[in-house]
Amino acid sequence: MQLSLSTWQEVESYLTHSTGIIIPIGSTEQHGPNGLIGTDAICPRKIAAGMAEVEQILIAPTINYGMSLHHMAFTGTVTLKPATLMRVVYDVVESLYQHGFRHFYFLNGHGGNIAPVTAAFSEIYTEIKGDDIQPPRCRLSNWWRDDSIAALAAELYHGAEGHHATVSEVALSYYAYPEAVKQVAMTPEIAPTGEIYDAVSFRRSFPDGRIGSNPALASIEDGERFYQLAVDSLLADYKTFLNQ
Ligand code: NI
Repeated sequence: MQLSLSTWQEVESYLTHSTGIIIPIGSTEQHGPNGLIGTDAICPRKIAAGMAEVEQILIAPTINYGMSLHHMAFTGTVTLKPATLMRVVYDVVESLYQHGFRHFYFLNGHGGNIAPVTAAFSEIYTEIKGDDIQPPRCRLSNWWRDDSIAALAAELYHGAEGHHATVSEVALSYYAYPEAVKQVAMTPEIAPTGEIYDAVSFRRSFPDGRIGSNPALASIEDGERFYQLAVDSLLADYKTFLNQ
């Protein structure tokens, strides 16, 4: 059930049996030579839609921009500053809270969002209290860090999964958008790894944008396996969260 495709009466009626909502959140940033700039938003949006096919869960519009300052040396990247992202998260939660939502499940596709989003949660817990029996509960679930996903990536790609423009996320985005699959030769085959600092040094250390990955291995078939695993596993996680 998509919030953007519902009427207000339908949302009111949903709230009589659930106070939970899934908010996919990603980024608009470079993902190497064959990865889509929307990868980090596409993956959680696709997984959330799959979860809503199994259970009646309301899915909020995806937050398509994230904290991507370190990717700004690559064309096409759009970033929110950390403080801006914190405001966005805070305002989305505050709006939905006013209508009666209490469980805010941020389904995340981008590592750079973790610090600002969890910092926003701290603000929310301090400032949005009400005198309610059920105070707000927020969770940030990073789909790629789920144990089942990490295990499948290790099994399929061994050392080539990497840390940015990973094989699994490129595969999942290809499953979501088969028309956008790109065939690109990777040199070197597996990208270098290392620390992330500012945007200029990121590009110097990781010239084509990848970190530690060989996303030429990504396939639509693998993407479907990651998708199915993520839907099953995150659905269980979401249900547990609703009892918090
Ligand atoms: Ni990514």
